[in-house]
Amino acid sequence: MVNMIIDGKDVSAKKDTMLLEAIRGAGIAVPTLCAHESISRSGACRLCVVEIKKGNRTRIVTSCLYGVEDGLIVNTQSPRVQNVRRLVMELLLARCPESDVLRKMAREMGVEPQARYAADQDKGKCILCRSCVRVCEEVVGVSAIGLFSRGSYKEVGTPYHEKSDVCIGCGACVYVCPTGHIEMLSTGDKRKIWGRTFKMQTCDKCGKHFAPVDQLKFISKKTGVPFKNLTTCTECR
Ligand code: SF4
Ligand code: FES
Repeated sequence: MVNMIIDGKDVSAKKDTMLLEAIRGAGIAVPTLCAHESISRSGACRLCVVEIKKGNRTRIVTSCLYGVEDGLIVNTQSPRVQNVRRLVMELLLARCPESDVLRKMAREMGVEPQARYAADQDKGKCILCRSCVRVCEEVVGVSAIGLFSRGSYKEVGTPYHEKSDVCIGCGACVYVCPTGHIEMLSTGDKRKIWGRTFKMQTCDKCGKHFAPVDQLKFISKKTGVPFKNLTTCTECR
């Protein structure tokens, strides 16, 4: 275990864990957008910044990527931290002014949209955090989507905006996206996502459409479980 002082409180945390977890473990709230428990950390949103003091030196670090250290003094709400967070929030809001999630967070932080930032290419609600790309690659294992183009034209999607051959329609990207940017429409036995329409499997027992057939085929292939053993929804299993 390591011992630290966070916002004046003595806090112990497991070695080799991240500061963000220790802060949250101490019951202190830190705003985050890109730290999702099911994927690796990228440090993309920068909202989780905190100030640390080691010896006589203080500096701002990204708490979701910074490992805990014995003797660290951490301040999650210092004026410096709040200034950096507000600036980050202003930039995120300038990029995605239509995002309800960002607008709510900004309101809570007392941040108003700033006219001084030039409008970006329309990103919808995407903050380019790559969480969707990482879950598709690291958890699902298909890499159907990526970030393409450069600078202000950078955007998330399938290569060349074409329908992906490898997408299985699982919706994991929708689940991890912090801003609700990715559109997935499920109606009856169809699901639409990333420009493709997937047929949904009907549960053998209750008749509910519960998962794309392509996703179940993918799981069957990966695990060796026969497809016919996967055609019951989780509630009826
Ligand atoms: S679509 Fe969502 S998860 Fe993907 S990069 Fe944009 S904000 Fe992040
Ligand atoms: S939560 Fe740490 S950078 Fe996004």
